[in-house]
Amino acid sequence: MQVYKVGGAVRDRLLGLPVTDVDRVVVGATTEEMIAKGFRPVGADFPVFLHPKTGEEYALARTERKSGRGYGGFTFYASPEVTLEEDLIRRDLTINAMAEDDQLNLTDPYHGQRDLEARILRHVSPAFAEDPLRVLRVARFAARYAGLGFTVADETMDLMRQLSESGELQALTAERSWKEISRALLEDHPQVFIQVLRDCGALKELIPEVDALFGVPQPETHHPEIDTGLHTLSVLEQSALHRQPLTVRWACLLHDLGKGLTPEDEWPRHIAHEHTGLKLIKAVNERFKVPKDCQELALLVGQYHTHGHRALELKASTLLELLQSFDIYRRPQRFEEFIAACEMDARGRKGLEQRSYPQADYLRGAAKAAREVAVQPLLEQGFKGPELGEALKRERLKALKAYKEAATA
Ligand code: CTP
Repeated sequence: MQVYKVGGAVRDRLLGLPVTDVDRVVVGATTEEMIAKGFRPVGADFPVFLHPKTGEEYALARTERKSGRGYGGFTFYASPEVTLEEDLIRRDLTINAMAEDDQLNLTDPYHGQRDLEARILRHVSPAFAEDPLRVLRVARFAARYAGLGFTVADETMDLMRQLSESGELQALTAERSWKEISRALLEDHPQVFIQVLRDCGALKELIPEVDALFGVPQPETHHPEIDTGLHTLSVLEQSALHRQPLTVRWACLLHDLGKGLTPEDEWPRHIAHEHTGLKLIKAVNERFKVPKDCQELALLVGQYHTHGHRALELKASTLLELLQSFDIYRRPQRFEEFIAACEMDARGRKGLEQRSYPQADYLRGAAKAAREVAVQPLLEQGFKGPELGEALKRERLKALKAYKEAATA
């Protein structure tokens, strides 16, 4: 039997990037032989094994045929007769369809190296269409390697368009989609992920609420870029430039969904979009079974981002309501993430990327002032239960009034 490194490990070594995961393919072996050598079989769907010592993945060379709709609909054929070339041809991209042996001899029947040099993401064969998740994968690789100059080949875009139009993307499970989306959002150029999905018609299928923002105008005075979709892309871009965590990036993507619902005769204004957007944010969160911290932040940012921008004008009582809504006393980190998302929103405007955002420190100062109100003196005065809560609120309001006066004097 022969063993080859395949996929991302070969690609990233040739790109001069660090290699984290190593996948290997085994040609000329049977399941029984692998088990006899001490490999541990894993994976219900495919003949994959873990090395007894290193724990790395070894997959038997296989060919796949589609037998139904979506990802569940695979049958695979693995046997010692399946060649390396047959295994590689069913992979997604030419740059992912190269193999190398221990001596670093490259097997590259589908010209992955040529495409690496030309900075092109190109599908290997029509077998690409067997797994619709690959539409998201290509968009994710485009987001990851955009800085190196990679773009998607026209013929691959055509295939992605056909897959999107066929309705196949609807068959993807929430878990698989979210894994791709969350990884893509954490790449250096997450806006490219959304742009590529939009260009091939997949965004309309997966997150129509975001797709609907393109072509929706905003007032030019506040938003020189005008288009809400372009603004969303810029906010996402800023979130990556400022190395924000996934929670913030997810909130950035969804913060303005309400603007897609504004009746055209109200354009370019979007009255109460913070509220109209909430049900859309909820729907998207549920569609992908998004982790709770991301769900929560997206809803809070959706509802309160304009409060963030107007922080310095807010009455002390409104400021207090905002802080209470975030439960800043027990969840300080979440409020920091809210502030970050607001700042990314403000910076995601054409020509205003470098403008300072004094609201951020003002909000931090307000949170500090509210937190510094001590409970002990109120307890000593005999307050208990709901009355204690009310007294605490009164004291915090006082503190915020003083803070506001001092900060805006
Ligand atoms: N692959 C594929 N189609 C998929 C998933 C994976 O063709 N839907 C193939 C590709 O050849 C890929 C390899 O399996 O290179 C390994 O997949 P994976 O570990 O998911 O991705 P990597 O390419 O290693 O990329 P990453 O750096 O994102 O892990």
